[in-house]
Amino acid sequence: MRTLSALVAPERVWWKPLGKDEKAWFIASLLWCLFMFSVMWWWPLVGEQNTPMESYRVDPKLFQQRAEAFVARYQVGELNGTPVVRPPAGEDVYLLARTFQFQPVLELQKGQTYRILLSSIDMEHGFSLQPLNMNFQVLPGYVYVLHLTPQEAGEYSLVCNEYCGLGHHLMTGKIIVRE
Ligand code: CUA
Repeated sequence: MRTLSALVAPERVWWKPLGKDEKAWFIASLLWCLFMFSVMWWWPLVGEQNTPMESYRVDPKLFQQRAEAFVARYQVGELNGTPVVRPPAGEDVYLLARTFQFQPVLELQKGQTYRILLSSIDMEHGFSLQPLNMNFQVLPGYVYVLHLTPQEAGEYSLVCNEYCGLGHHLMTGKIIVRE
């Protein structure tokens, strides 16, 4: 009877000893792992990555209340059903993410520094500011503080880049920067 080679058990300890090539590749990948691990520590300095480290725990209901109060206070218009808000610099700016929208649309002044409080009231979303390609996670229960100083006037898009459900691809927002 013919035996199918795929059904034959491999020899015992078939992986020993390591061949020369295998050793070389193992060492190369290990060194690469260690190098990539070290990048986490020095790249924030060398690459001028100034990701803020400020975040707090928050009750999503409380965050929603404060975000709504913020909108009520500084709303100046509406864009496709989303309130447009023009906050003064120095004031806490709320940006709320929920399935499937970012609220409100922010209207900011070029050159001013804003303290943006970012959170979700239902599930994990992603904050991707385009075309600058700045990306942050937005988690319910946590406020992430983003210090933003717009350098150029124009319209910037927000895109959710964490899959959050059937309307994920529709989840966009906007930041308008005025001169
Ligand atoms: Cu929100 Cu994807």
